[in-house]
Amino acid sequence: MNEAKMTIDVNEKPPILKWIVLAIQHVFAMFGATILVPILVNSAAGTEVLTIPVALVTSGIGTLIYILCTKGRSPVYLGSSFAFITPLAAGAVLAGISGAMTGAFLVGVIYIVVALIIAVVGKDWIQKLLPPIVIGPMIMIIGLSLAGSAVSSIGISADVEAINIKGVIVALFTFLVTAFVMLKGKGFLRVIPFLIGIASGYVLAVILGLVDFSPVLEASFFSLPKFLVPFISYTPTFAAALTIAPIAIVTIAEHIGDHTALGTIIGKDLIKDPGLNRTLLGDGLATSVAAVLGGPPNTTYGENTSVVGMTKVASVWVIGLAAIFAICLGFLGKFTALISTIPNPILGGVSLLLYGFIAVNGLKVLIENRVNFGRSRNVIIASTMLVLGLGGAVLNIGTVSVSGMSLAAVAGVILNLVLPREEDDDKPLEFEAGNKEEEKVEEKDKKEDGKINKENIVVLDHPLIEHKLSILRDKNTGTKEFRELVAEIGMFVCYEAMTDAKLEDCEIETPMVKLKTKKLNEDKYAFLPILRAGTGMLDGLIRVIPNAKIGHIGMYRNEETLEPVRYFFKVPKDIKNREVLVLDPMLATGGSGCDAIAQLKKEGVKNIKFLCLIAAPEGVKRMQEEHPDVKIYTAALDEKLNDKGYIVPGLGDAGDRIFGTK
Ligand code: PRP
Ligand code: URA
Repeated sequence: MNEAKMTIDVNEKPPILKWIVLAIQHVFAMFGATILVPILVNSAAGTEVLTIPVALVTSGIGTLIYILCTKGRSPVYLGSSFAFITPLAAGAVLAGISGAMTGAFLVGVIYIVVALIIAVVGKDWIQKLLPPIVIGPMIMIIGLSLAGSAVSSIGISADVEAINIKGVIVALFTFLVTAFVMLKGKGFLRVIPFLIGIASGYVLAVILGLVDFSPVLEASFFSLPKFLVPFISYTPTFAAALTIAPIAIVTIAEHIGDHTALGTIIGKDLIKDPGLNRTLLGDGLATSVAAVLGGPPNTTYGENTSVVGMTKVASVWVIGLAAIFAICLGFLGKFTALISTIPNPILGGVSLLLYGFIAVNGLKVLIENRVNFGRSRNVIIASTMLVLGLGGAVLNIGTVSVSGMSLAAVAGVILNLVLPREEDDDKPLEFEAGNKEEEKVEEKDKKEDGKINKENIVVLDHPLIEHKLSILRDKNTGTKEFRELVAEIGMFVCYEAMTDAKLEDCEIETPMVKLKTKKLNEDKYAFLPILRAGTGMLDGLIRVIPNAKIGHIGMYRNEETLEPVRYFFKVPKDIKNREVLVLDPMLATGGSGCDAIAQLKKEGVKNIKFLCLIAAPEGVKRMQEEHPDVKIYTAALDEKLNDKGYIVPGLGDAGDRIFGTK
């Protein structure tokens, strides 16, 4: 297999130096967000609730617990969760540190209970309980509820009498650097914009005299973090339980989404193996143990998933070492004291982006799932949640208080279950004709986002092809018609792939005259269908270039890992002297296509094109990364892969539909 390919062996232990460098990259990725949580909770609560050293240590310990619970089969890093900033601060105001920590402990318990239920009855009920119309507004509330604290950290809130110009300049500078790195940063830099923003803002703050270094001078090099242990440091109280714990509803949905995303990147269905019950158990235990030590709830870190995607190393050994490094950092007294000197305006500068980002992510959930706000049911659920969540609602029941955010989560779940549902309420919104252009632009942006190199792919753009594809995609199209269409569209893709064909001079005689003209030397070509489905296209291509030689590569996708499994390879002897057109109707993860091309390159083939009918952006990206010299020709570029690695909207399983095997 090709070198650039993802190391899907999550248990592979890299050589020592590489291991350490990769782990340090993961620490950089988790660091910014993990230390921000205690800082922001304390700032929102107006008192010290959490400390940075404990947050670092509990994130590391939590990650190790997660690795154990998932039997070392899932390379996820757990860091402090942003979702709990407002609830923890509100819980602390309401019932002190004991209230905040007891609430955080219960969050973990909810995860564990959900994990156990999933182990017994499966996971389908979660999707019913937490559809996008509940999750989207909830994420928006999490972000927007923090907006006030960002503004006051910058120092421009209504209650500020005299603006500190230096502070505002530092906040603005931090904001601009962070935004710039997000927009223009390349590679790893793009994963750590907040860290770079904070570091740059810090340098400016030092220059402007806004940093007080005395805590660093006073701190010792090594110091024990201020762990808070129940019954020793405080007596647990449930007074803030309902302010904090119900937010677990949202973070469980986030957990599933993150695991699905990582699974797609590493080509392994983590929801099946190690299983959602194990991943939730790991996350839940990590959160409860963190709370018992005085740390914030943990969550799966997207930043680290990005590092896995970028480095193409998904080893749990790397994640484990990063966790150990994080624990060690928590004991470095001078270092954590230095972090605590970060002035407030810097936090304001990053928060200006961060909180909005969280809110916009909620909006994205609604848009990507095409939630139809033309339906009253959806309007009622979202409106109720937004007003309860952002209106400062508090429900006092005896000694227990329920915050607005928790009320919103519970109300959303209940309303979604009890409000009468009409047939179209859950149907994704369809764009009307008037919106077609917008939809196209949106599609285009999406594709650009995925970083597809447009130079290297040709997508057939013809009304008749679109028409034929519509019939092909239709699940009611029968085997005979499906087969004919695969061959016919394949033929047109071949025409497109041959636009650069070099013709040779020849002379013929028409019924009228002798004519000097040009012809294709068909002996220069070979077709290479990937078995089985590729042979369906072959029927069309041999109509166009009947004398091309034909080879076969047998390959099927392992349903679990989605990786190709080879079973046959037979190509013409002189293949390396030919231009080879590799045929496969579907380019999904790209595993089969990339592996077939790698095998051909081993045979010495230099000139390769890949022809398919439907491509997913994920597969195109992978092929462009692994084989940038191979141009892709496709009849359609679809939206995405689903969690089983099937192309959406796609056409289902091409092989089964061509051969009628299902
Ligand atoms: C399908 C398809 C491709 C492969 C695409 O084959 O024809 O070969 O999956 O997926 P990928 O890009 O993720 O590798 P399948 O494994 O179903 O075998 P078949 O052709 O025998 O049905
Ligand atoms: N293979 C198929 O046949 N269809 C898909 O959608 C993905 C892979």
